[in-house]
Amino acid sequence: MAVASASPLPAALSATGPSPPRPAPGLLPLRSSRRARAPPRLGPVATCPGGAFRLMCRRRSRVEAIKTEREKQLTEVPVEESFPVREAAPLDGADDPMVPSDENWAVKLEQSVNIFLTDSVIMLLDGVYRDRNYARFFVLETIARVPYFAFISVLHLYETFGWRRRADYIKVHFAESLNEFHHLLIMEELGGNSLWIDRFLARFMAFFYYFVTVGMYMLSPRMAYHFSECVERHAYSTYDKFLKLNEEELKRLPAPEAALNYYLNEDLYLFDEFQTARVPCSRRPKIDNLYDVFVNVRDDEAEHCKTMKACQTPGNLRSPHSTQKCIEADTECVNT
Ligand SMILES: [Fe+2]
Ligand SMILES: [Fe+2]
Repeated sequence: MAVASASPLPAALSATGPSPPRPAPGLLPLRSSRRARAPPRLGPVATCPGGAFRLMCRRRSRVEAIKTEREKQLTEVPVEESFPVREAAPLDGADDPMVPSDENWAVKLEQSVNIFLTDSVIMLLDGVYRDRNYARFFVLETIARVPYFAFISVLHLYETFGWRRRADYIKVHFAESLNEFHHLLIMEELGGNSLWIDRFLARFMAFFYYFVTVGMYMLSPRMAYHFSECVERHAYSTYDKFLKLNEEELKRLPAPEAALNYYLNEDLYLFDEFQTARVPCSRRPKIDNLYDVFVNVRDDEAEHCKTMKACQTPGNLRSPHSTQKCIEADTECVNT
């Protein structure tokens, strides 16, 4: 037929490969003609002819694909998303850890045990330290440092045995621990540790709390972080109530030196480091009097609370200095 003899495909390809679809009678095989004349395309979408050429073409496509993948691996920088930045403290009813939100029975059980333990300790401290605020704060701050030290101990142990490497977690927990240490220095300067019985009670509780936290963290990091979140939330509400009841008096008193040294320090890298829900430099305290000191101690507790909440989701914690956005913000901070 006139149509068949007009096909421009080379005879060799026609002989070895499968025949191209026959055009309907009366129509010219325009597609076959264009394909034969067009230059071969690169990449996985290239059209391969039949037979030995098809095999070669497939191999070449595979090589091209591997090459592209290798190039991608060499040139691409992996970007890890941090969890959403939250400027305000999530201390409302919706985020209340006292209300288990997860449907999982294990989470509910863990949270119920934590709430029972926290409530028991709060009841004990409320009974003993009803009218002695600074002594109560001293005990609270002595205890508050313990879980961070316990987390670091366990993570360090895991690292030693080569089981897990979590540099971000160790760095953030160390910054949290240092922040609590400065809270403790402030309370000591205010006379919170003047009685031996308070010092004894604080250290006695801290000793056992350390081992309990280590055990809990090894069994369930999620439970240990939730327990710390409950403790931090209690610390936040304790300081918040204290500020509301004593605002006028606190505004007339000077700030302790420990607070001035810490909050007005030129190097606030570790101060930014424990605030994982914030961009570095987004919070710079103003300290004019004792009221300002307690406002900042309270706000620190809110930041601890947010970090402990984030830690309950595995892999959710990032050092605030680790993302590009935060590095840029930090550079701006240094330049200003
Ligand atoms: Fe604290
Ligand atoms: Fe705290």
